[in-house]
Amino acid sequence: MSKRDLNFEAYRKSIQSLENFKKPTAVVIFGASGDLAKKEIYPNLFWLYKDSLLPENTIIIGYGRTNLDIKKYLKETIIQKVNLDNDDLKIYDEFIEKNHYITGNYNEEPKFKELDSKINELMVDPNQNIQDCNRVFYLAVPPKVYPNISEMVGKNCRAKEPFLTHLVAEKPFGKDLETSNELSKSISRYFKEEEIFRIDHYLGKEMVQSLIALRFANQIFRRVWNRDSIESVFINFKENFGTKGRAGYFDEYGIIRDVIQNHLLQVLTLIAMEQPLSESADDIRDEKVKVLKSIKAIKLDDVVLGQYAKNENGTPEQQKGYIDDEGVDKDSLTATYAIIILHINNERWDGVPFIISAGKALDETISEVRIQFNQVPANIFKNYCRRNELVIRIQPNEAVYLTMLTKRPGMDFVVEETDLDLTYAEKYKGLYVPKAYERLFMNIIYGSQISFVRSDELTEAWRIFTPVLHEIEEKKIKPIYYQFGSNSIPEAENLIMTKGKYSF
Ligand code: NDP
Ligand code: BG6
Repeated sequence: MSKRDLNFEAYRKSIQSLENFKKPTAVVIFGASGDLAKKEIYPNLFWLYKDSLLPENTIIIGYGRTNLDIKKYLKETIIQKVNLDNDDLKIYDEFIEKNHYITGNYNEEPKFKELDSKINELMVDPNQNIQDCNRVFYLAVPPKVYPNISEMVGKNCRAKEPFLTHLVAEKPFGKDLETSNELSKSISRYFKEEEIFRIDHYLGKEMVQSLIALRFANQIFRRVWNRDSIESVFINFKENFGTKGRAGYFDEYGIIRDVIQNHLLQVLTLIAMEQPLSESADDIRDEKVKVLKSIKAIKLDDVVLGQYAKNENGTPEQQKGYIDDEGVDKDSLTATYAIIILHINNERWDGVPFIISAGKALDETISEVRIQFNQVPANIFKNYCRRNELVIRIQPNEAVYLTMLTKRPGMDFVVEETDLDLTYAEKYKGLYVPKAYERLFMNIIYGSQISFVRSDELTEAWRIFTPVLHEIEEKKIKPIYYQFGSNSIPEAENLIMTKGKYSF
């Protein structure tokens, strides 16, 4: 039995008892020829199909302007992303047969009517009666196309009740508060809030999901999770690669919109929120919104921006700076690195700095949360005392560890730092940790909003970031240049230690 089989057994049983498992389901992927469809959507749908986690009768229809032979595309292109072994090949062929494709523009009404008819035709029951089905419409296209598709789907392709219609929207959801609100408005004309699944794939990650349990199921943490014991919270995201050909998109958005306003802010809300009334999606999101409402708009003084430059002594990849990537202006001021200090003005967190740092083309790839506790008062171990730190490593190599001080075993009396270490690969040997998109697909298909962003969360998130983003653009703030492969930027480290009150 593979790792996946081992821990999906119980889950599979629970899924199979759901009403939606028994309902036929159509998944429509707009932008099926694109990067996200190739990297994440098709491969993960295959794995879920293989594990019998998709509803019994599921069909997948790609849609796009590109004239695509979908079966050939799956057999020749997507297969390279799926990582199959020989035993899987037969199932992959079966999966291919579930796939269909329609070529059309995103505002071409007759093509959407054709899509609707195609779904109905493919869903004939064993007596050859046409039946309806649950319908998932995945917007794997640039956000500017969302309004057109929402209108076309809303007018032509909705499932008839009691079947469900779910619309999946990817980030970036807007560029600022105004554009995000416009986008929300155009989609909400055709879809109710509970039908819209705004993806933030960080919410599908194992360690991000485990934050709620860590915080609220452990008395030992509940007691100290506040300004009385915590000095500073540091959310750190680094990638050791650059924009990798995605600069055309990235140059318009920059690192704050790309990962901070969404992924890292979501992590922050889970670290900072009060205990929700229950595990339900809305109770959790209510608490997340309260945290966001307690954060004032960020000030430029609390931000350091950077952009990676070529590293002449580095690897061939590192010898290209951000502006050497295709689609970037030579005088682009877009930040590929940013660090921000923010504060949560409530009873629990008043005075505790939250540091969010994110950078591309640095020395390593890591996402982690570091919660640093206060200094020991009246410390007697003058030379040895460092602050305790609880670290939640989201990736790679998921772990939770607590740095602490102990006496080193031996005749002498030496206090040194060590850690209580829960590294998942060791503790949960043999258990498969699902990938974010696998989990999110399950939620979308079976209708759980727990890992998706509600519209009021989005509005608050943009409220916090919009003024500073506009100021950066209006004042044409120049980023600090750092070499591809750097560990950090000195100006950022300075901010972390001073306003961030974090000690390295
Ligand atoms: P792509 O640029 O690859 O575009 C996807 C598809 O959309 C294309 O194959 C194309 O299909 C169609 N398309 C592209 N540009 C336009 C346009 N100007 N007008 C109409 N249709 C267009 O995007 P991705 O697949 O990378 O991303 C899809 C969505 O997911 C975006 O919202 C993106 O921000 C988001 N996202 C992507 C991630 C990634 O890793 N790729 C990560 C996180 C979010 P056709 O020409 O056949 O119609
Ligand atoms: C995406 C960003 O949303 O998240 C990328 O657009 C970034 O720029 C990626 O690389 C990081 O996700 P992960 O899961 O690799 O940490």
